[in-house]
Amino acid sequence: MPALEIKENVYWVGAVDWNIRDFHGYSTYKGTTYNSFLVMDEKIALFDTVKKPFQSEFLHQLRQLTDPTKIDYIIVNHVEMDHSGCLPEIIELIKPEKIFCSVMGEKAIQSHFHPKDWPLEVVKSGDTLNLGKKTVHFLETRMLHWPDSMFSYIAEDKLLISSDAFGQHWSTSERFDDQVDEAELISHTAKYFANILMIFSPNVQKLLQKVEEMNLEIDMIAPDHGLIWRKNPQQVIEAYRGWCHYEAKEKVVMVYDTMWHSTEKMAKAIYEGLVKEGVSVKMMDLKVNHRSDIVTEILDAKAVLFGSPTLNNGMLPTMADVLTYLKGLRPKRKIGAAFGSFGWSGESVKHINGFMETMGFDIVDEGIKVKNVPTHEDYQKCFDLGVKVAQAVKAELSDA
Ligand code: FEO
Repeated sequence: MPALEIKENVYWVGAVDWNIRDFHGYSTYKGTTYNSFLVMDEKIALFDTVKKPFQSEFLHQLRQLTDPTKIDYIIVNHVEMDHSGCLPEIIELIKPEKIFCSVMGEKAIQSHFHPKDWPLEVVKSGDTLNLGKKTVHFLETRMLHWPDSMFSYIAEDKLLISSDAFGQHWSTSERFDDQVDEAELISHTAKYFANILMIFSPNVQKLLQKVEEMNLEIDMIAPDHGLIWRKNPQQVIEAYRGWCHYEAKEKVVMVYDTMWHSTEKMAKAIYEGLVKEGVSVKMMDLKVNHRSDIVTEILDAKAVLFGSPTLNNGMLPTMADVLTYLKGLRPKRKIGAAFGSFGWSGESVKHINGFMETMGFDIVDEGIKVKNVPTHEDYQKCFDLGVKVAQAVKAELSDA
């Protein structure tokens, strides 16, 4: 992709990765982008780089704009390899006057690249860098999503270069939010938040408050992945505000797997009870749904029901996978219940309840176990569980 001017003398110089399908456990069905930005002022500054396999095309883009050796500064907003993979080679070529990073960024650079003589300069929140006509303001955003993460704000352009925050894993030939389908954009943004930032929701709350207090004028947000927000950057800030405060809808996610279809039958009976009460339900069979899509649906759901038959005194491996992944992301303020069939021992419900307790779920029912194949009475119990969960969802949301 050619370099693209996004503000006067500010260029997108990233890479589009159409083919990546897994980002350490996160399914990237539609690829991603690694966004880097070049500011051409009296001093020339490069904000982050790209993943190593894209180094050659990245350099080609830079050369369209300037002789890379003329770049004065590199700003490392984030050290994760998708943005720093080609940093050693780029530094060797450019020989920048200075490389700016946060205090934790310096530590991360040291432990990733073990540099001997890079001209690192540590900056902290409130520090500025004058480029000539433009000034960069630094804002540390520790744990969003790494300790080193930081934002760079160019006041004259009202441009927030936001590192991973506000990004999406979505490869497109378009670069701006107003050039793509809005619903799809929001769904990729939600998936990114759910799978990468949900765990850091308290930090996001503090950051949004800080940005508000700083009274930053923002008319463009340029994240390190996906589309640039220029139509209405406030839209993504408001979406983040809801997600980081665990705002939920009258929505229930049913996550289940099945061995001989008994747990599936139970899931369908529970579904009937939920639907009768008028809540929205997402049925997510673990055989056909990826863990990262399940977590995305859980993001704004008030309740989650987990169903697994018992296997070897435990649960099916697919259920253990998704529960382990979800526990790591620390969802909050969820209602939950478990169900599952069994042959002779029946421990799956107990183990699922254990996960929900650890996650702080409000477990509204001890759970339903069915021996082998559900009877007419079992179907009724499952239906009743659906009704019970739906009523708990509605009661809790009406109290909120
Ligand atoms: Fe896109 Fe945390 O790297």
